[in-house]
Amino acid sequence: MRLTFVTTNTGKANEVKSLLKPLGIEIDVRAIKLTEIQSDSLEEIAMRSCEEAHEILKEPVFVEDAGLFIERLNGFPGPYSSYVYRTIGVAGILKLMEYEENRAAHFKSCIACKLSREPPVLFSGVCVGRISHEPRGLSGFGFDPIFIPEEGDGRTFAEMSVEEKNAVSHRGKSVRLLAEWLRLMR
Ligand code: IMP
Repeated sequence: MRLTFVTTNTGKANEVKSLLKPLGIEIDVRAIKLTEIQSDSLEEIAMRSCEEAHEILKEPVFVEDAGLFIERLNGFPGPYSSYVYRTIGVAGILKLMEYEENRAAHFKSCIACKLSREPPVLFSGVCVGRISHEPRGLSGFGFDPIFIPEEGDGRTFAEMSVEEKNAVSHRGKSVRLLAEWLRLMR
């Protein structure tokens, strides 16, 4: 079965390929810009993008929507993470958190996969951690330089290799669930 991951984010594409390849799942990546609806729910955003991707390509597809949820900011930026990244960025988040002691945060990843006519199937993964006091590391993308996963040794995501990040990340978890489901569907 050929499966296409629709994303314009090359960082995400690399992480997902590196997770699926060792499991024997080869994917095509298509950088199609899909409509991202405004919603407080990553699940709803992923579902709608997946329906649109399937409508365009008419073949088995999946999409992923992710966000960073900061406890002290009541879950902000959450589903608005890409807009916030493009506008205030890493520096803006650090500024908002400047005098905060509670730096708890989590990333959530939500995958929607549609193989045929049935509605998309959802897979989620969460990675709990905290916001660092300064950006550290050069790898990865987005808010990686300021996120320290709890299941780690104190390094930010941006200080880890793709494999190290995948082992504990929100996306690693959602992609492994997707892979398990695909295995059952074969
Ligand atoms: P979207 O899923 O493409 O809407 O992305 C949401 C935004 O959240 C991205 O633009 C990144 O800034 C951020 N983001 C999502 N996943 C990650 C991650 O694994 N590391 C760092 N930032 C992320």
